[in-house]
Amino acid sequence: MSISLADKVIIITGASSGIGAATALACSAAGMPVLISGRNEERLASVAQQIEAQGRPVKMVLGDITEPDLSQRLLDTAQQHFGGFYAVFANAGVALDQPLYRMGMEEVRRHFDINFFSSTDLIIRAAQRLIAASQSGHLLSCSSCVAKFTLPGHGVYSATKAAQNHVSRALGMELQDRDIYVSSVMPITTRTDLFSTAATQRGLDGSKHKLPKHAPRFFVQTPERVARAIVKCLRSPRPEVWTSLTVKLSAAFLTLAPRFADAVLRRSATDWKDDQ
Ligand SMILES: NC(=O)c1ccc[n+]([C@@H]2O[C@H](COP(=O)([O-])OP(=O)(O)OC[C@H]3O[C@@H](n4cnc5c(N)ncnc54)[C@H](OP(=O)(O)O)[C@@H]3O)[C@@H](O)[C@H]2O)c1
Repeated sequence: MSISLADKVIIITGASSGIGAATALACSAAGMPVLISGRNEERLASVAQQIEAQGRPVKMVLGDITEPDLSQRLLDTAQQHFGGFYAVFANAGVALDQPLYRMGMEEVRRHFDINFFSSTDLIIRAAQRLIAASQSGHLLSCSSCVAKFTLPGHGVYSATKAAQNHVSRALGMELQDRDIYVSSVMPITTRTDLFSTAATQRGLDGSKHKLPKHAPRFFVQTPERVARAIVKCLRSPRPEVWTSLTVKLSAAFLTLAPRFADAVLRRSATDWKDDQ
């Protein structure tokens, strides 16, 4: 089965940079009108300009994903501007590289708020609208390969990503008979601003933390690679989008062997030690 994407509207959060921006451009190139959202107006406008240059309709919505009414606003704007939507990619997210014993609950909640509650709110509301309209659609959220295992300094981040993955998988099964597809995107380390932003927020020099030290360089991918895999999934839906078979198989093995996993992974992630 290959679904035609021509003129099917997609809403993408976190579209001002990285995976979201690359996906917005790839979807537009595949014929989809795009509603893009983020906080950084300048960067979002630059993505909008590139979409317009491809000759595709685009609409920008500025806002913080944790604003209680942002999901409604995104869906309402898609309705008013495009007459509805077909797909949603709940992608906005932040990383955190900090051992749990140094964190307060406020920080834990903030990360769940951005990565989990906000994306879940958007996916649920989008599902409700598709159901009410008896319409087909596709709901994607950006999880991570670390949804399947964790690393020191990444407990909370991987918990938010595992939570996203679980709700997507459950929702996918719940909507199976309604022609509404649900997918979790499971990127491996991707060359974006995610890590430098996280380092800057910890008071470090973000330019020295463009990628995590633990990531083997041969596993580092471009956001365009993730974007291509997402377009492929929109055409041919599946529950999870992986861009590395090696990491997918390793994740399965690490789940089967937790003692081995901890022995290997505890040495690998040490970026937060720079703060000491
Ligand atoms: N890079 C990786 O290695 C990797 C691996 C696995 C999964 N992921 C996931 O991929 C997704 C995208 O991240 P990325 O790697 O592309 O990093 P990025 O370039 O830093 O993009 C993050 C996006 O999220 C938006 N965002 C962050 N906080 C927001 C908030 N409070 N409200 C609204 N928008 C917000 C940012 O937009 P504004 O600043 O304009 O608001 C930006 O567009 C995230 O969910 C991340 O967890 C990344």
